[in-house]
Amino acid sequence: MPLAYLNGNYLDQTEAHLPLTDRGLLFGDSIYEVIPVYHGQPFQADAHFARLQQGLQAIRIANPLSPSDWLQIITTLSTANPAPAQAIYLQITRGAYAGRAHQLPEQPQPNLFAFSKTFTPDPHILQHGLHAITQPDVRWHRCDLKTTNLLPNVLALADAHEQGADDAILVRDGIAREGTSSNLIAILDGILTTSPDSPELLPGVTRNLILRLAAKAGIPCARRDVHVDELPLADEIWLSSSTREIAPVTRLNQRPVGNGTPGPVWQQVHALYQAEKTNPDDA
Ligand code: PDD
Repeated sequence: MPLAYLNGNYLDQTEAHLPLTDRGLLFGDSIYEVIPVYHGQPFQADAHFARLQQGLQAIRIANPLSPSDWLQIITTLSTANPAPAQAIYLQITRGAYAGRAHQLPEQPQPNLFAFSKTFTPDPHILQHGLHAITQPDVRWHRCDLKTTNLLPNVLALADAHEQGADDAILVRDGIAREGTSSNLIAILDGILTTSPDSPELLPGVTRNLILRLAAKAGIPCARRDVHVDELPLADEIWLSSSTREIAPVTRLNQRPVGNGTPGPVWQQVHALYQAEKTNPDDA
């Protein structure tokens, strides 16, 4: 029976319910996190908690729990799931109120819930890479906040699938911002290049770790926006996230990226990332 956490209780996922007036449901008024757990060990948990804190603060919800409370929940949920690689999904909504009103409630009572989801890196992607297409980025201008307003992401991914691709790279003002649920990294003239943090994209925990690992390995890195016209010239393109880890994009808009196979810089950084998972050394 898959376990869920809901407002202080552990129960079967099928029995965990929220009222239909919950503001997360009605307004997307909520923040979420996805934290990987490998062999029982949460990975990069502090960075996820820091982003959770920033997101909640930005939308004016007080974090109902401390990092150690959250860790306890993560441990309980991940222990109940035997999978070696899992992601703990957690969400905090502003709570449920009678009726439906846009204005913020004076005394919010947030709802919190969490559950574990098994994930396995796809061996086909690791060997052959992904096919991505570019799509217009029609999201709001606070994509740095991990809110549950994900409909544009969901629809862009659906468009990609309809066009026979695996994912979409979202483009606004000529700049390739990120994937539908991942950050974008390109190797341009041998330089690992990715946008600076901004309200237009999520400050990915995985991307930050990749930058630290790459810098430590002496790989030249640059934080600058990548223009969409630069993408066809890229030696390599990657999409990074906590559950995707680092996925090489080997086809973009039906054309090969580089020589159409996962590239040498990806091979190197992927290996560093795998080593970090088994032996985190505070990179
Ligand atoms: N998504 N950008 C977007 C829009 C994302 O949704 C995500 C992660 C990332 C990568 O962030 P991180 O490296 O911290 O996982 C970037 C999660 C995995 C999700 O929605 O399931």
